[in-house]
Amino acid sequence: MAATWVIALILVATTVNVVANTNDLGVNWGTLTSHPIDPKVVVQLLKDNGFKKVKLFDSDPPMAGFLAGTGIEVTLGIPNDQLEFLSIDYEYAKEWVKENCTLHLGHGGVDIKYVAVGNEPFLTSYKGRFTKTAFPAMKNIQRALNEEGVGKKIKAVMPLNADVYESKSDKPSDGVFRGDIRDLMNKIVRFLMDNNSPFVVNIYPFLSLYLNSDFPSDFAFFDGGYAIQDKNVQYTNVFEANFDTLVYALKNAGTPNLSIIVGEIGWPTDGHKAANKANAKKFYDGLFRVLASDKGTPLRPGEIQVYLFGLFDEDTKSIEPGNFERHWGIFDFDGKPKFAMDMSGNGAHKELVGAKGVNYLPKQWCVLASYSTDQNLIDDQTSWACSKSDCTALQDGASCSDLDPKRKTSYAFNSYYQMNDQHEEACDFEGLGMIVKQNPSTESCKFSTQIEVDGATRLSFAYGAIASFISSITLFNLL
Ligand SMILES: *[C@@H]1O[C@H](CO)[C@@H](O)[C@H](O)[C@H]1NC(C)=O
Ligand SMILES: *[C@@H]1O[C@H](CO)[C@@H](O)[C@H](O)[C@H]1NC(C)=O
Repeated sequence: MAATWVIALILVATTVNVVANTNDLGVNWGTLTSHPIDPKVVVQLLKDNGFKKVKLFDSDPPMAGFLAGTGIEVTLGIPNDQLEFLSIDYEYAKEWVKENCTLHLGHGGVDIKYVAVGNEPFLTSYKGRFTKTAFPAMKNIQRALNEEGVGKKIKAVMPLNADVYESKSDKPSDGVFRGDIRDLMNKIVRFLMDNNSPFVVNIYPFLSLYLNSDFPSDFAFFDGGYAIQDKNVQYTNVFEANFDTLVYALKNAGTPNLSIIVGEIGWPTDGHKAANKANAKKFYDGLFRVLASDKGTPLRPGEIQVYLFGLFDEDTKSIEPGNFERHWGIFDFDGKPKFAMDMSGNGAHKELVGAKGVNYLPKQWCVLASYSTDQNLIDDQTSWACSKSDCTALQDGASCSDLDPKRKTSYAFNSYYQMNDQHEEACDFEGLGMIVKQNPSTESCKFSTQIEVDGATRLSFAYGAIASFISSITLFNLL
């Protein structure tokens, strides 16, 4: 009898503990942009908006360094291109952990919680490129963390896209890991379970809509209007249905109790007809309502931990997945909030706090000057400008798709000119370009002026390796 009591008490204590720790919203901080915002300014923005957790896609110590002493919990990232060497040799993993992890811990250091090994390494579009290396790399990193004596606090995880599981019937209860990687996934989830580490999954209702024109639009949001029935459970949004498909897949893999973190979730605002601010606001309002209710999903009641994707628009991201890919920010490229967003889930009309102390280049733009009759030249120059800048807003259904052809050329010229810091030569275009002081923006289509990037910020992003070396020396001296 007494023994039973002890167990019951421990169970209660654990449950309470879990609930108390998970109430904080996280966000992904990506930096694939031509004009990165000063990391000091970004850290202030994270604090001003109450973010308690941030996930990075790399581990450049300069960036992580700015998070030291802030109380913000950090997930470091290891890009896919580093998986191979980390998988081959445990000594590399040890060096990695020493240089990029343990050096930054300690009093007043960086509060590192997870090391994300790879980013969606099993995406079907990678055609198996990382299936041999990702898991060995993760094991090596965890072993190195253990050996450094920090393995209890810092866990190796692997952010995976929701495409690692599937359901033949589209019902959650038929959820299983994808056939081609099922054995591998079974091993990975067992490893995570044994290490007390969570399963990190990226879930994108927008992509359900984007990839399938028959997908019921209401189901991508949280306002009802469409439902699926799965045995005695009703799902009214694809997020919960998708999440519970994973719960079933975990059950089938023999790890029904593995905890789950949503590593990325969000909605883009340009580059496709369904990617706009109105839809993004609708999606986030619903998501925050679900999160605030602490109801969880039908199969996983309780709080859900999420990291929003992402912080800013990133104008140099690959658009292989689609033109929306550069428009995932809850803030614009310059740190301005895009739309009202109440992260507490109360549905109040609240603006996020924008970036403070961002300076802009002069208010001037590059446009098509002479309406040259050489249409071939205009077309060539337009495509050339687009190939070296960002024209995703000009594509079908996007915010600038309604411009007439000449204005479209102006948009392309300006994009290139701004990306190149308004250098005069960047507005030549074989004599077609002209710099103007009057803003050519229309109601829906914004011609931006870029932000100033100071030398230190430029250096820490451009020369990450050198800067990381310098910062390790500095940190080393401090310790
Ligand atoms: C630390 O991380 C950086 C950035 O990803 C990487 O370039 C570097 O090789 C890592 N250090 C070691 C010792 O692996
Ligand atoms: C999962 O958790 C439940 C309740 O806490 C427990 O009864 C069950 O044995 C666990 N299952 C496994 C496979 O650990």
